[in-house]
Amino acid sequence: MTDSPGTVVVHPDPDALAEAVAARLVTAVLDAQAERGHAHVVLTGGTVGIAVLAAVARSRATDAVDWTRVDVWWGDERFLAPGDPERNETQARRALLDLVPLPPGQVHPMPADGDPGDDVERAASRYAEELASAADPGASPAVPRFDVLLLGLGPDAHVASLFPGLPGVQEDTAVVVAVRDAPKPPPTRLSLTVPAIRSARQVWFVVAGADKESAVLAARGAHLPDEAPGSAVRGAQRTLWLLDRAAAGTLPA
Ligand code: 6PG
Repeated sequence: MTDSPGTVVVHPDPDALAEAVAARLVTAVLDAQAERGHAHVVLTGGTVGIAVLAAVARSRATDAVDWTRVDVWWGDERFLAPGDPERNETQARRALLDLVPLPPGQVHPMPADGDPGDDVERAASRYAEELASAADPGASPAVPRFDVLLLGLGPDAHVASLFPGLPGVQEDTAVVVAVRDAPKPPPTRLSLTVPAIRSARQVWFVVAGADKESAVLAARGAHLPDEAPGSAVRGAQRTLWLLDRAAAGTLPA
């Protein structure tokens, strides 16, 4: 990718990272509401992604958010039964979403593995339809104008559930893909695609741990998407790398 890798902000440790990203996220939501009347936020799973939500729930600044003007989406999901503790939705609800006055119709989880006759491919189509129904007329890709899209980063530089070597990374038409045989359990997942992620105004990589240092360098470099999926996704207006010291390694802030 030739576009700018984005701005690095380094934090002392994972706890400081989660608290700082939570503060940044609340501010971004307030700014979107002030400027555009509404905020669309895309959540991610993983340790840091959920820690950020718990930090938002603890923050008094969160009281300033008008939750009736927020829509919450997901960048990926583990295709498990409804309420499974390993689902990103379950963890996000426990950490934050069930603790704030979000109108239920404004929380948009990816489908669970529970609807009779459903399978992960049909679930992907259903979520794409839900995204399209909330998109501006004629929007391309047919998704809402996401204000902030959060991403974790795997040691293999995967983002969302786009993994090196799996077909989803190369998908350039659909906005949601079914993922089978993912190397990170569980193997069956749903994920936004590169075009859907890149349509977001801001993409924030939120990454902690020394085991991610090389993945951060790969994702910020000019690697082929299939080698480092994180290198394929940047924000339409802004890309932030919100790292702890361990994940940043020798990167200059
Ligand atoms: C998932 C996530 C995934 C995660 C990264 C980082 O469903 O697992 O969406 O993309 O964000 O694997 O996870 P950690 O922060 O736990 O390392």
